[in-house]
Order: sequence, then structure tokens, then C-alpha cells
Amino acid sequence: MFYEPTNPHGLAHDPFKSLIIPRPIGWISTMDPQGNVNLAPYSFFNAVSFRPPIMMFSAGGRHIEGGAKDTASNAEACGEFVCNLTTWDLREAMNKTSASLPRTTNEFAQAGLTPIPSRLVRPPRVAESPVHLECRHYLSLNLPTWDEGEPNRVIFGEVVGIHIDDAIIKDGMIDVASLRPVARLGYFDYTSVEGIFTMPRPD
Ligand SMILES: Cc1cc2nc3c(=O)[nH]c(=O)nc-3n(C[C@H](O)[C@H](O)[C@H](O)COP(=O)(O)O)c2cc1C
Repeated sequence: MFYEPTNPHGLAHDPFKSLIIPRPIGWISTMDPQGNVNLAPYSFFNAVSFRPPIMMFSAGGRHIEGGAKDTASNAEACGEFVCNLTTWDLREAMNKTSASLPRTTNEFAQAGLTPIPSRLVRPPRVAESPVHLECRHYLSLNLPTWDEGEPNRVIFGEVVGIHIDDAIIKDGMIDVASLRPVARLGYFDYTSVEGIFTMPRPD
């Protein structure tokens, strides 16, 4: 089949989000200027640069109270955010924090998670997650939007601090098998990393 995204695809559900897969899930904690803490998952999320390490996530659609989603507006207003890694054990808690809730609701409390202080930024980390990337907002980019009143923007942040649970370090390397990161497949489907193979480069 072939379709142009502005035309009907003829399928039961839009296939786009199931084509670029698996997508890592950035479980992003932020804080608003009043100090309210927020936590939500974003799968339009990735590392985009290594030196320096830079993360991105993209927030589309609007908050139930109007305007941009909390994670985007908080990251910009506070200038900081934390990317927490979603693992198999945390999959249900992660999903709970995606609920559309009033701006001041603390999703840590709502999902039974423990906030712990970050070292270099104000938003807290998810204690139950084994990896946290403390980020400083670098740039926001407005993308085109098809839906009036629904902002669509990418937020970039430079990683300024990295926490790794010592339990997932084995022989000086990250033990991905014990980490079991969860990634999104589109629709309501997910996968967790279980099969790993090694392939050295030719040179
Ligand atoms: C696995 C998963 C991935 C998601 N990825 C995105 C995303 O990339 N962009 C987005 O705008 N919303 C995404 N959502 C929906 C947001 O998590 C949801 O709108 C949430 O209520 C936003 O919360 P906030 O306003 O506190 O930021 C995702 C939801 C789930 C469950």
C-alpha cells in the first residue's frame, strides 16, 4: 500500500506510530515554577548527540486544561528535566503516569512512586528506576501542527548528570539483560529487550 499522510490510509488505525519501532520511552520528571512535580512518558524520545550528550522529546496535542502538555511547558519554564528509564518492573506505573490529569496533580503520588532529589537540577528522579539523566533545557523547536490549538514541539536538553544503579553494571558494562528496558511499538503494544546479539564492526 501507499498513502500520503494528509490522505486517508484506509486501515482501522493510523499505522505511522507502529512503523518506527521500537521507540524508547523517556519517563520525564519536571517541575513547574510553583514547585509542583510532574511525571509522564514520551516515546517520541531519544538521544540525539553523544558529545555533549543531548536528549529530545516531542510533545503533541494539548493538555486537558488547554495549552502545551505539562512536561513541555515545565521543561521550558524551569529549564530542567530528568529522563528516567522505564523497565519491565515499572511498566504499569509508567502507564499510570500517562493519564490526562489536572496540572497540579503529582503523578509520583498517583502511581505510588518515590521522588528522590536530583544532584544538579530541581525536578526529582524516580527512585524505582535504575537510570536517570539530569538535563538542562537547550532548545525548543515548534513543529507544524495539523490541529488548531494543539502545540507540537520538540524539546532538547543537554545531559548534565547521569545516575546508574550499580546493580546493573557488570564487568564495567551495562547489563542490558538484567535492565530489561521497555519500548513502545505503537497501538497499545510494547516490547522489552530480551534478545541481544553482538556484531563487531569491520574496522
Ligand atoms: C508509552 C507512552 C508514550 C507516549 N509518548 C508521547 C509522546 O511522545 N508525545 C506526547 O505528546 N504524548 C505522549 N504520550 C502521552 C502522554 O504521556 C500524556 O499525554 C500525558 O498525560 C502527558 O502528561 P503531561 O501533560 O504531564 O506532560 C505517551 C503515552 C504513553 C503511555
